[in-house]
Amino acid sequence: MKAIRYHVRGGPEVLRLEEVAVPKPGAGEVIVRVHAVGVNPGDWQIRSGLAGDAFKLPYIPGWDVAGVVVGAGEDGAGWRPGDDVFGMTTDSGACAEYVAVPAGQLARKPESVDFVRAAALPQSGFAAWHALFMQGELKAGQTVLINGAAGGVGHLAVQLAKWKGARVIGTASARNEPFVRERGADEFVDYAEELSEKLKQSADLVLDTVGGGRGDWLLDVLKPGGRLVPVAWGRYSPDKAARASVAVQEVQYPPIGTAGLAELARLADEGRLVPAIDSIFPLEETVRAHEKSESRRARGKIVIRVT
Ligand SMILES: NC(=O)c1ccc[n+]([C@@H]2O[C@H](COP(=O)([O-])OP(=O)(O)OC[C@H]3O[C@@H](n4cnc5c(N)ncnc54)[C@H](OP(=O)(O)O)[C@@H]3O)[C@@H](O)[C@H]2O)c1
Repeated sequence: MKAIRYHVRGGPEVLRLEEVAVPKPGAGEVIVRVHAVGVNPGDWQIRSGLAGDAFKLPYIPGWDVAGVVVGAGEDGAGWRPGDDVFGMTTDSGACAEYVAVPAGQLARKPESVDFVRAAALPQSGFAAWHALFMQGELKAGQTVLINGAAGGVGHLAVQLAKWKGARVIGTASARNEPFVRERGADEFVDYAEELSEKLKQSADLVLDTVGGGRGDWLLDVLKPGGRLVPVAWGRYSPDKAARASVAVQEVQYPPIGTAGLAELARLADEGRLVPAIDSIFPLEETVRAHEKSESRRARGKIVIRVT
C-alpha cells in the first residue's frame, strides 16, 4: 500500500511517499481502509523531534482517521467489513491506504458528515470536550474565554461551549473575527490589542489552545475562583494566579474511546458541532499539509484525503 513515512526526524522534507506492507490486525484491532486523515500539531511536533523520540522510526504519521472497516483481529468489538468509522490510532500510522486501529478507539461515522469532516473531529473535538467539561466543569450560564478560537481545537470548543449554554469569548487575530463569530462566539478579542477593562475578571473558565510563554494576561480575565485549563503547554505565573485566586490546571491528553467519539458524532449529526475545513491535501502532498499546520495559521482543520 501507499504510505507517507519518515526515516529521520526533521522538517517537512523528511516525509516520503513509499510502498509498505498492509498492516495486519492485532488482538482487539480493526483494519480501516483510510479515506481521510485529520492533521494535528502533534503530527509535526513528533516529526520534528519537538515531542521527544519515543516513537520508533521509520514512522507513518497521522492519528485521526475516517474510513471503512475491511477486517478485524480477534475481539474486534463487533466491527464488520463495510462499517463507516472514525476515530484515533494509538501510535499514529493513518497517512496510508490502510491502518490498524484499536476497536475501542473507533465509532460509527456521523451519517450526515463526509469522511473529510469526520476525520477532522476526533483529537481536536475530544480535547475541547475534555478541557471544557471534564477539567473545566463548564456549566450553562457561565462565561468561558477560548484563546485560539479559530484553530482546530478552538473552533470546536466555541461550538461545544455554546451547545452547553455558556457565554463565549473567542480570541484570534482580527482577520478571523467573522469566522469566530460565525462559530457562535458572543464576543471577540483581537489578541494584538490591549485587554479591555470590561474583560478583566469576567470569565469562569479560560481554555488556552495557544500556550507558550505569553499567557499571563489570561489570568486577568478570570473571576476569583475561576480556572485556566491549558490544552497546549503554556507558562503562567504561579504568583499572579495565587494573587488572583484562580487555579491553573495541567495539560492532559485524555484517552479517546468509542463513547466519547459517539457523543461527538451525535452532535455532528444534529448540526451542533460542525468542523470547518481550512484545506484538503491529497496523501501525496502531506508535506504541504504539515507546512500549513506548522504555520499555526490554520482556520479550522487541515485534512489529508487518501481515497
Ligand atoms: N491536550 C490535547 O489533548 C490536545 C489535543 C489537540 C491539540 N493539542 C494542542 O493544542 C494546541 C492547539 O492545537 P490546534 O489543533 O487548535 O492548533 P492549530 O489549529 O494549528 O491553531 C491554529 C490557530 O491558532 C491561532 N493562534 C495562533 N496564535 C494565536 C494567539 N497568540 N492568540 C490566539 N490565537 C492564536 C491562529 O489564529 P490566528 O491566525 O488568528 O492567529 C490559528 O487559527 C497545539 O499545541 C496542540 O498540540 C492538545
